[in-house]
Amino acid sequence: MRLDVFYTPIQVKPADTAGRLVAIVDVLRASTTVATALGNGARTVMPVEGADEVIIRSKEFHRSQIILAGEQKMLPINGFDLGNSPQSFTAEVVEGKTILFTTTNGTRALLGVQGARDIVIASYVNFTAVLALMKVAASSNTDIAIICAGEEGSFTLEDAACAGRYVRAIPKRATVEMNDAASASVLIEKKYGDNIAKVFKESTHGKALEEAGFGADLAAAAEVDAYPVVPIYQERQITKLGPERAR
Ligand code: MLT
Repeated sequence: MRLDVFYTPIQVKPADTAGRLVAIVDVLRASTTVATALGNGARTVMPVEGADEVIIRSKEFHRSQIILAGEQKMLPINGFDLGNSPQSFTAEVVEGKTILFTTTNGTRALLGVQGARDIVIASYVNFTAVLALMKVAASSNTDIAIICAGEEGSFTLEDAACAGRYVRAIPKRATVEMNDAASASVLIEKKYGDNIAKVFKESTHGKALEEAGFGADLAAAAEVDAYPVVPIYQERQITKLGPERAR
């Protein structure tokens, strides 16, 4: 089987995802926000390309059913209910709601995936839950691709470190082949270990969020297994994998 990491979505070709378990990683902050929202009882998250499309799609719903959420240049979008701060997706706010969600890199990375067997949203806050799905895939020799959302086509340290944590934890048989990015991600993860706060402190986007007043978001994103959910993207929606949707 293959276990590959891609540091940006633009590198990914259709053959890299066809038939695979694909994990999208955007630790700061889209993946973390999706896991938090579903963990707090949101009915579904609908990733959408851009603020205008959120408004268009919102017309399909009664206003009380939906939350408009997302960011542009890290900031909440004018007229939306929520930005992209994970801890603002509380149970009081999101329970039972459909969240129409757009972000700069995370939702785009997700919407670009083609032909995958399954697409899952991965982060630190749902690390072990998603790892369990990866272990099942590995045990049946299903190829895995971990796609880091990156930042506008560039490498991001926090996504690479999180990808490395997955790569390290997936049991590897003699037959597992990894690309160089997967091997390098393990080295990055080993350097930081459980000091996720340090990863964020040294990453460009982590520093930018801190400077913009979103320091609390970094703390939320570093809480390993705080929301043990498996968010699966299927038919334009992200829902929580549960007994009724077991793989
Ligand atoms: C993104 O999708 O680009 C990020 O989640 C940006 C952010 O809100 O920090």
